[in-house]
Formats: sequence, C-alpha cells, structure tokens
Amino acid sequence: MSKSVNPCFVRKPFTFKNHDGTQTLIVSIPEVLDPQYGMYVWPCAVVLAQYVWTTRENLQKKTVLELGAGVSLPGIVAAKCGSQVILSDSAELPLCLRNCKRSCEVNNLPSVPVVGLTWGEVSPELISLPALDVILGSDVFYEPQDFEDVLVTVSFLLKRNPNGQFWTTYQERSTDWSIEALLHKWDLQCTNIPLDTFHANKSHLAGSTLPGNHTIQMMIVTRG
Ligand SMILES: C[S@@+](CC[C@H](N)C(=O)[O-])C[C@H]1O[C@@H](n2cnc3c(N)ncnc32)[C@H](O)[C@@H]1O
Repeated sequence: MSKSVNPCFVRKPFTFKNHDGTQTLIVSIPEVLDPQYGMYVWPCAVVLAQYVWTTRENLQKKTVLELGAGVSLPGIVAAKCGSQVILSDSAELPLCLRNCKRSCEVNNLPSVPVVGLTWGEVSPELISLPALDVILGSDVFYEPQDFEDVLVTVSFLLKRNPNGQFWTTYQERSTDWSIEALLHKWDLQCTNIPLDTFHANKSHLAGSTLPGNHTIQMMIVTRG
C-alpha cells in the first residue's frame, strides 16, 4: 500500500517484526517516480534490511556505512536500531544523494550524514570516514563493469578496518556474472548467508511484495 505525498513521490512503508511479533519497526521510504536506479527500493534492499533487523542487537552503537544507498532502506533500519549510520551514493549523482537525505528526514533521522562516495575512487571523503564496523551494499553488483570498482572501495575500507565486514545482497540476473575472481584479486573472502537463517526466504517481506520470485543472495565479505 503506497501513500501519495505529492505528484513526484510515494512513501512506501516497510514493517519489520521479530519472529514472535513482540517487536515491530515501521520505516517509510519516499520513492521518486523516475526510472533511474537510485530512486526506489530494490528487492535486494528489503532482504538486506531484514538481515539488519534480525541482527540488530549486535549493531547497536556500531558505525555503519551504506554504499550506493539510493533511497537507503537498510541504512535507515540500521539507524533506527541504534547504529551510527553514514549514507552514501555516487558523488556524481546529486539526485541520489538527495534521496538519501529525504529518507532520513521522513524517518526523523536528521543527523545521519550523507556523503558522496563514488566506487573505485579514493577521494578525500572516503579517506576521512571514521572507523567502521559494517559496510552495507544492497544491489550494488548490478552492472558488471562496476563490480571491480565496488570491490576496490570495499577492499580499501576493510584494510583500514580489519575487523569490519561488508554485508551485501546480490540479485542473480545472469548466471555468467561472478565476483569470485575479483574477490581473490582484492584479497577478500565471502560467506553466503542462507536466507532462511534470517526468515528472508519469502516472496513477501516487511509487508512488501518486492522480493517476489527474484533469486537474491546475502553475503558477508571480509578480508582474505
Ligand atoms: C540498483 S541501485 C540500488 C539502490 C539501493 N541500494 C537499493 O537496493 O534499493 C544502485 C545504486 O548504486 C548507485 N551507484 C551507481 N553507480 C555508482 C558509483 N559508481 N558509485 C557509487 N554509487 C553508485 C546508484 O545511484 C544507486 O543508488
């Protein structure tokens, strides 16, 4: 169910519940009626947000960076669960950075910083990030030509934060695509987290039908 805010945006609600229904979190994500990538919630984001929600006790007071956040559902859930969150999207896509800010405003999170971070670029903004515990990336592996740039940024950040982890969800769009060789090249390793271990093996999640029939994988990437 979507509620109109003005002719250009819709607010989409997502409701996360724990298994026995005793705790609930509702966040509202404003989507832009525009076909560009960073303007609306992707199926992978719901799955990653569900992982954040189910592991929320370990995330309290942790510093979390979201890469390629777009409308930022996983980062917003992390912030609502008590993490110190920094949202980012490409420094070259100001409209996407505006979406990150809008999601913070709508969810009463005015102090969450939003920074421009372009994958593969070692910029002053990347260098001046604080120590990080978790990096989130939902559907950031969607254009094969960008896969290495994403991993260059992740590898840079995990070298500076050796105990850090990159939590990412990946939508299988082609069986030819793989990040295995690139993980090896950038000294990274990856563990697959089965969706049923965090109750995400469903076509409906958080009150949303977005996961649908898509094949989505959840992975945790660490230093090799
Ligand atoms: C498929 S969308 C996923 C958006 C959001 N994470 C989600 O799952 O709903 C990919 C996101 O990556 C961002 N992006 C694309 N190229 C980028 C780059 N070179 N550096 C940083 N972000 C980029 C886009 O602006 C967009 O927000």
